Amino acid sequence: MSAARPQAMKLADYRQPDFLIPALFLDFELHDTQTRVTAVSKVRRQGTHSHPLILDGEKLQLVSVEINGETVSAQATEKGLCLENVPDEFELRIVTHIDPLNNTSLEGLYKSGSAFCTQCEAEGFRKITYFMDRPDVMAKYQVKITADRQTYPYLLSNGNKIGQGELPDGKHWVLWEDPFFKPCYLFALVAGDFDLLEDSFTTASGRQVALELFVDKGNLGRAGHAMASLKKAMLWDEQRYGLEYDLDIYMIVAVDFFNMGAMENKGLNVFNSKFVLADPASATDEDYFNIESVIAHEYFHNWTGNRVTCRDWFQLSLKEGLTVFRDQQFSADMADPAIVRIKQVQVMREHQFAEDAGPMVHPIRPAEVMEMNNFYSVTVYDKGAEVIRMLHTLLGETGFRQGMDLYIARHDGQAVTCDDFVQAMQDANGIDLTLFRRWYSQSGTPRVEVETLYDDKRQQFALTLRQHTPATADQQDKLPLHMPVAIELIDETGSQQHILSLTESSQRFELACKGEPTLAVLAGFSAPVKVDFAQDSQELLKTALYGQDDFLRWDAAQQLLSESIHASVTDANSSLPEAVLALFSGTLDVAAEKPALAAEMLALPSFETLAQQKPHIHVDSLLAARHSVKMQLAEAFAGQWKSLIKVAPDQSYAYQREQVQLRRLKAVCLTYLAELPDSEAILQQGYQHSDNMSDTLAILRACQSANHRLFEPLMQDFEQRWGQDSLVMDKWFALHGSRQHPNSLASLQLLTGHAMYSINNPNKVRALIGSFAFYNTAGFHAADGSGYRFVTDYLMKLDAVNPQVASRLITPMLGFSHLDSTRQDLIVQQLARLLNHEPLSRDLYEKVSKALH
Ligand code: PHE
Ligand code: ZN
Repeated sequence: MSAARPQAMKLADYRQPDFLIPALFLDFELHDTQTRVTAVSKVRRQGTHSHPLILDGEKLQLVSVEINGETVSAQATEKGLCLENVPDEFELRIVTHIDPLNNTSLEGLYKSGSAFCTQCEAEGFRKITYFMDRPDVMAKYQVKITADRQTYPYLLSNGNKIGQGELPDGKHWVLWEDPFFKPCYLFALVAGDFDLLEDSFTTASGRQVALELFVDKGNLGRAGHAMASLKKAMLWDEQRYGLEYDLDIYMIVAVDFFNMGAMENKGLNVFNSKFVLADPASATDEDYFNIESVIAHEYFHNWTGNRVTCRDWFQLSLKEGLTVFRDQQFSADMADPAIVRIKQVQVMREHQFAEDAGPMVHPIRPAEVMEMNNFYSVTVYDKGAEVIRMLHTLLGETGFRQGMDLYIARHDGQAVTCDDFVQAMQDANGIDLTLFRRWYSQSGTPRVEVETLYDDKRQQFALTLRQHTPATADQQDKLPLHMPVAIELIDETGSQQHILSLTESSQRFELACKGEPTLAVLAGFSAPVKVDFAQDSQELLKTALYGQDDFLRWDAAQQLLSESIHASVTDANSSLPEAVLALFSGTLDVAAEKPALAAEMLALPSFETLAQQKPHIHVDSLLAARHSVKMQLAEAFAGQWKSLIKVAPDQSYAYQREQVQLRRLKAVCLTYLAELPDSEAILQQGYQHSDNMSDTLAILRACQSANHRLFEPLMQDFEQRWGQDSLVMDKWFALHGSRQHPNSLASLQLLTGHAMYSINNPNKVRALIGSFAFYNTAGFHAADGSGYRFVTDYLMKLDAVNPQVASRLITPMLGFSHLDSTRQDLIVQQLARLLNHEPLSRDLYEKVSKALH
């Protein structure tokens, strides 16, 4: 690919489509290696021009093209088809052959096990037929599917089933019609044999919706939680946003081969099976949580994404940022709001801040894209959701809801932009959001500096906030942003909360306060920024132990811990500061009353989070410092760890709030306990007596991170028990991949040959290789470069199989400017090897070339 360098597309170059395609009939004759696709479109010229009709198409075998029933000769290129001198309005009939069995990219039509399924977002429809593969071309679809009846009893597509029949040769067919206009990225087809879980939901206006959940044969017992989650999500969207489901049927299919989490195809969601299947023995509390949230996310897309969709892919955050925000609100209502928020902030600090610091930095609405699949990013999704959350904070619940109502009413059935969304918020609330819109075009992590002064005489507390966003790889000049800064003032009499609206590069605020207060900033992480506020450890301790806001308490605790870890980097013999000891004993004292918050406050910040806090780190000393702090805490509170792990729930497993909290607290205690010399019997018994995957995994993780000698025997036992269970084995692969151990590379090599491993299955690759690259800090950053070399070699193989997955896996190799120069050189060497590798996908080319720039 180095010969013909892929070109970037620019947002500024957007033009409305030359043609519209209001109706599309698709006829599929399914066959493993030669599926025949007939596409009949109604095409209409838009505007007055004489441009040709240009259709996207990739990896298609063209059989025939007809315009109004007459064959035309058309020459296909690698990228598509160009039809010159077409009429203003006509019927276009195109027949193509495709090869689903050998489609390992999992984009377009492919096989997952014995089933056929599709994935079209973002630009996968062009691998099914020649079409205008862009979201502002919206059509009404009819889809006919023909296949062998025995092997494929279920033939599914979007909308309602309007016909079916038998054929003499053992085949059958089904005809589907979707009454709603949709872009082709929302098209879906599934054919296979499944177990079916059926249920129904009655909407607020009294309509009956059939709910159908398709899982692999034998998995019915693991489908209940997903179905229950779907019904909760449907009810929640009615109550919170007044949004009802609009078709008579909602189908979800779980498949084992899937590039992402799930896909919101109209009326026919396709899910990675890991976000559907759960039972107590095989799934953790975290799995239960994730299933509920992903099911909700895809369901919420029906309005924010499908009924109102994106004009072009630069607007991806229009649907993703908004839908992530909505699923976050839902999760907060279903579970523990403060804990849910803490998890989201961890994602921002570990992953989104890292993306901002690297070569792939982009605004939530990117301005330039080479490969769209590269922009399904933490920035577009999670920072995008943070931007929506700031609007919610600035407008309040009522104002935000009014804005949403107007947005939906105004744009139902349309393909629109992020600007249209902000405009609706602005118009519904009568406020000026001009400044706020900068969040959509400006990239990078802003820094907010805090300075305080207390005037004893006037009893006034003055607060100066200064903001600046450092230059990023994609953008030199930065402007001040509009952000809500939520604060808490803690004084003798209690605490007061305020939301300050920061719009200037420097702003001063004054608040009345009897006595000098302790200030805590960024309550609830009210803006996606880094805060620079030099606070002494006594102040942090006060917030951690006596603050009102649980999030701020956790945040103060994390700061105390982070600082003591960074301090022991510079002084290896340093002992734990008094404040950290006080933090732990104060937290442990009330742990049984507030187990969820205590668990998070007692957990050490991750290596990745610590790394994001400093412009330069030294991997080995930071790892050693983190470990030494962990050891000291393990020893200092040995008695408490041992007694607290006994607070476990005494009922049998249920995914239920109180139980989840206790299990989480126990898991954190176990990570300290496992560092103690006399922990073996406790761990061994804990493993043997566990009746659920959460507890089992907590023991394994504790043993792994402490490099406990029990780890290997327990892992062998686990493999014996679960060796045939694909989803559970992913947990086993991940524990091996992330284990920081001198032999980790050799074991990784070996495991790629394991009977349950396959380079063709993204879940396996992510579990084993992904957890090595992302979380095996010692192994990946090995000083001899062997970790970087291993990942690079693997990427070369993987890129040929599935470029989208390869491109996600390369992330840890991209941000290296904070590493020491030896490691930087080693990474650059490997990236240079990749850049010269042929063929190299556009996905990897975009990232590698930027990283080397
Ligand atoms: N649109 C999906 C979601 O966020 C994600 C996705 C993107 C899935 C691309 C597959 C391919 O819900
Ligand atoms: Zn989404």
